[in-house]
Amino acid sequence: MQARKSTTQDSVFRGSGVAKGVTTKCVEKCAARYQCKFILLGRSGFDSEEPQWVNDCLDEAELKKLAMQELIAQGEKPTPVKVNKLLRPVLSAREISQAITAIEATGSKALYVSADVTDVDAMPGKLASAIATFGPITGIVHGAGVLADKYIEQKTVEDFDAVYSTKVQGLTALLNAVDVDKLTHLALFSSAAGYYGNEGQADYSVANEILNKTALSFKQQHPACHVVSFNWGPWDGGMVTPELKKMFMAKNVYVIPLDAGSELFVNELSSATNDRLQIMVGNDMRADGGDPSNGTDAASKDAANNGSSAVKKSMAHSL
Ligand SMILES: NC(=O)c1ccc[n+]([C@@H]2O[C@H](COP(=O)([O-])OP(=O)(O)OC[C@H]3O[C@@H](n4cnc5c(N)ncnc54)[C@H](OP(=O)(O)O)[C@@H]3O)[C@@H](O)[C@H]2O)c1
Repeated sequence: MQARKSTTQDSVFRGSGVAKGVTTKCVEKCAARYQCKFILLGRSGFDSEEPQWVNDCLDEAELKKLAMQELIAQGEKPTPVKVNKLLRPVLSAREISQAITAIEATGSKALYVSADVTDVDAMPGKLASAIATFGPITGIVHGAGVLADKYIEQKTVEDFDAVYSTKVQGLTALLNAVDVDKLTHLALFSSAAGYYGNEGQADYSVANEILNKTALSFKQQHPACHVVSFNWGPWDGGMVTPELKKMFMAKNVYVIPLDAGSELFVNELSSATNDRLQIMVGNDMRADGGDPSNGTDAASKDAANNGSSAVKKSMAHSL
């Protein structure tokens, strides 16, 4: 299949959901290799100035105490819900700030834009200032995603909408806001749950499988664009909490190490050819074990050989 133009210092990647979680690692690796420009998109607001009560405190337990004191000073009862509400924007801003710092430390440039990726109409306006600064967008990384795991009979329409629209409507919004004929890269964060299905994730599976199919049809229409839909198994981070990681390990599901997964991401996007449009990384989340040496790509083999107790089975192949 036809390859695309290479990434240069003038390349501008606009990434949804990449200022936090596992996608941040992928973007950082990309930044280190290409020293290009990144527009990071997320719903969270971002103010680099912290409120005074935070007092530059870095210790999370101590920060919690300060939040409680602040609520009391405001005449409020410091319930866990209120404490978390006060802490959330501070921790979120720190995560975004760390992502920007890490990207810029590589010689790349980064701007954060606060926008809901499901808002198709607002997207061009939200991006205008960043495009004026960086130039036209040449690559898209669609990493935004949310979960509302529960059995299908317990799901509400709102649950479905939140999960589905973040992935599917989000991709529409991202594509609508660029000149698709100029796009050199389209990277989609899909999931093994889209290909195999997964308990409690009917909405998430549907949405991710639509990303897979969109990748195939986009490549047909735009053969010069390098398109990859990554069907990730669970990562060691992001949505996968320590409790979830334990559960996956108990089921012998391979958990993708951050370094190996992000290396694989950049390698795939940098490949001279674009034969693999849909890639499974890891395995079925319902797995019950296997031989880690099954891995067919560098990241899988590294992961399998790194002695990590998280590595139970690794596998990566094009579908
Ligand atoms: N982690 C895994 O094991 C795993 C496995 C398979 C696939 N994936 C996929 O990989 C992607 C990243 O996962 P993750 O674990 O890093 O997730 P995460 O830590 O929960 O981060 C999700 C990101 O999406 C952003 N986001 C959510 N809704 C948004 C919206 N409406 N508009 C703009 N941004 C939005 C969030 O930022 P704000 O909160 O600021 O909006 C956040 O940056 C997801 O698409 C997920 O489905 C992850």
